[in-house]
Amino acid sequence: MSIISDDNFTKKNLIKEKNPVIDTKSIDYDKNFENSIRPKSFETYIGQSALKETLKITIEAAKKREVPLDHLLFYGPPGLGKTTLAGVIAEQMGVDIKITSAPALERPRDIIGILMSLKGGEILFIDEIHRLNKIAEEILYPAMEDFSLDMTTGKSQTVKTLRVPLPKFTLIGATTKAGALSGPLRDRFGIIHRLEFYTEKELSEVVKRTAGILDIEIDEEGAKAIAKRSRGTPRIANRLVKRVSDYALVKSDGKITESIANKALDVLNIDNSGLDSTDRNLLRLIIDKYNGGPVGIETIAAALGEDVRTIEDVCEPYLLQAGLLQRTPRGRKVSPAAYEHLNYKNYQTQQSLF
Ligand code: ADE
Repeated sequence: MSIISDDNFTKKNLIKEKNPVIDTKSIDYDKNFENSIRPKSFETYIGQSALKETLKITIEAAKKREVPLDHLLFYGPPGLGKTTLAGVIAEQMGVDIKITSAPALERPRDIIGILMSLKGGEILFIDEIHRLNKIAEEILYPAMEDFSLDMTTGKSQTVKTLRVPLPKFTLIGATTKAGALSGPLRDRFGIIHRLEFYTEKELSEVVKRTAGILDIEIDEEGAKAIAKRSRGTPRIANRLVKRVSDYALVKSDGKITESIANKALDVLNIDNSGLDSTDRNLLRLIIDKYNGGPVGIETIAAALGEDVRTIEDVCEPYLLQAGLLQRTPRGRKVSPAAYEHLNYKNYQTQQSLF
């Protein structure tokens, strides 16, 4: 397998890096694996401490009052544990959870069906809630506010509205784009909270926990090495545990040490900051073709052969948070740190070339 080292990558040989060996950010990720290692309690759910404290109090209060929990909206980049947290909440409330996503609620009957199937106190989790269509949203408003469904029967002059009561339930919405939610929908959530990227220390805990569940031997330094390259995201850390463990088994004695982890992650084309080839290609494109930017997201997506949503939802949040990319009203710009990260000789020199 050939590995393209960043040092080989100069402005002259503007070649795109090969596709990543593994796509650590792909959306159709192995759900069975993810489900098998999901924490079920606040004690085993690592990170997001401020949010956990708020939730513990809210849950305790709802239990004391014997009422369902207020509707909750979680937002933030993918892979930070929004679905997992919803599962923890259901477990703590002692209720069942029904999990769906907005694209699966295309027809009115989809959302009506799921609302009518809910039992008292249950949690309905809707992922990607910003993608709900207008009709589905309007069905949700009275359901969230008054626990009722407004059904219409008949046509034009004979149209009648029928109010059907629903059991009291809690809606947990999750989105990567809180800004894309309509105002009226957002206003119906009692708690709105952003999930933050994880620190390296927290990710190291996630890595050790997952390795323990999968019966993989790992030392402290091995866990840190994986955590460092997991771009603040437990979902990525968990995938890397598996990939690094495969490497350790084939190339060594199966134990994950710092050296094994680093070698495996190099083979996987994941750099010291956790960037993969798509991330680096994105930054290089802006530098090489657009003089560092600004350039529009559609242009970037077309040049990389990726869709806009993947770039916006999956690549960008971490590049922005890592200070490598900036969003401006005229498009995306790389920061001086990106030049440095990609081993471009000098930011000033690069700028004066154009
Ligand atoms: N796996 C995914 N997210 C996690 C978290 N927050 N804590 C522990 N394990 C996880």
